[in-house]
Amino acid sequence: MKFFIDTANLEQIKEMQELGIIDGVTTNPSLLAKEGAEPIEQLVKICQIVDGPVSAEVVGLTTDEMINEARDLAKLAPNIVVKIPMTKEGIKAVKLLEVEGIKTNVTLVFSQNQVLIAAKAGASYISPFIGRLMDNGQNEIDMLWESMEIIRAYDFKSEIIVASVRNARHVIESAKMGAHIATIPFSVLEKMFKHPNTEKGLEVFLKDWEKLQAQLKK
Ligand code: E4P
Repeated sequence: MKFFIDTANLEQIKEMQELGIIDGVTTNPSLLAKEGAEPIEQLVKICQIVDGPVSAEVVGLTTDEMINEARDLAKLAPNIVVKIPMTKEGIKAVKLLEVEGIKTNVTLVFSQNQVLIAAKAGASYISPFIGRLMDNGQNEIDMLWESMEIIRAYDFKSEIIVASVRNARHVIESAKMGAHIATIPFSVLEKMFKHPNTEKGLEVFLKDWEKLQAQLKK
């Protein structure tokens, strides 16, 4: 399973990149706004840190606007993937961009039908927003299971990026069903590393080791 980091923060990306556990990055207009930097410059910096796919989202609403923006974004770096919203205009753009060789990530996906349509359009990636479904009281895990079943049933080329991940359990559930990718916020990645027994266990091992060394010196 691939891990992407869901952030536009350079420090967070660098830290996880140095640990060697991330395979790509997803951004969106809100995440870029949070950083407050010029977005194009920020995206270029992100692409310099990470070799894997970096998703950058269009803000235009018509097919033509999306295609023009996508072409400009794709010029920033070879690893740019263009995020396109799950609308009729967006789906038209996905079809045309994929034929042109520009990789797309269909975003703001909330249903199995939307997954099927994005897959049929030939999207390289599809991002179901499971956390927002959960926030809405819907069963986000069932939605993901059925989405994976649809992708596998027809051997669609699209890879599922589990998005809007809210907690470490979401990552486990995604891995259990063989989702291709999870895009994970920095805070959740940090939690995935930790378990109180690891810290306690390490403390005991080191104390016992010191005791042994002191005994041997006597
Ligand atoms: C995915 O690509 C989006 O950037 C992201 O996962 C949205 O998550 P949120 O619901 O936490 O905003």
